Amino acid sequence: TEKGELLYEGKAKKLYKTSDEGVLWVAYQDQATALNGARKEQIAGKGELNNQITSLIFEKLNQAGFETHFIKMLSKTEQLNREVEIIPLEVVLRNVAAGSFSKRLGINEGEVLPEPIVEFYYKDDALDDPFINDEHVRFLNLATEIEIEYLKKETRRINDFLKAMWAELDLTLIDFKLEFGRLPDGQIILADEISPDTSRLWAADGSHMDKDVFRRNLGDLISVYEKVLEKLEAAK
Ligand code: C5P
Repeated sequence: TEKGELLYEGKAKKLYKTSDEGVLWVAYQDQATALNGARKEQIAGKGELNNQITSLIFEKLNQAGFETHFIKMLSKTEQLNREVEIIPLEVVLRNVAAGSFSKRLGINEGEVLPEPIVEFYYKDDALDDPFINDEHVRFLNLATEIEIEYLKKETRRINDFLKAMWAELDLTLIDFKLEFGRLPDGQIILADEISPDTSRLWAADGSHMDKDVFRRNLGDLISVYEKVLEKLEAAK
């Protein structure tokens, strides 16, 4: 597989076409953003950590039979993905109250939710990714009723898998964000990344092992992400 022309440059990744139809070459970048891109910083080493972490997780998901875009890791910063048309939704699942959920509803961070809650956000930078409900998803023609049910169910199934995986590494999966995409035949599969950039992970002592270290200026992000990668590699 040969790397082709640059197709898209996002906040954290560059996507290239390849010599294979339907296959993308993805290069993870070192940029960290918060506040929907309003705060931007280069953090040397972040791209290679997220690429390696997300590759290990997607390999496990593929092995467990989940349908994902992940093909293989190419290098520390690059991977091959199946090309999909991304559904512009951030599908967030919460096991424990934190972040915008705590702020919006006045629930203390750390309060365990009786059942996981799935939320949708409309991926639109100009609108600041607004929180929306199922009816908005349908109004915006982002997914049909049946597809919405599938997205929620699949996200809960992925949560069961990820929660157990992180628990074995002594980390609590507080919440995470997924993105899904459509193959040319319309099948919806898991896409994007799963990393400490897109998940909240708390250690047993309550310390943050995720991007909140950057968002809240809690210390050195790289050493935290290195620890997460070490744990995943030790469990391989
Ligand atoms: O900020 P909030 O509490 O809504 O974030 C919920 C989860 O979704 C967190 O794990 C966060 O890392 C993730 N997220 C993300 N990308 C965004 C917003 C949130 O990965 N644009």
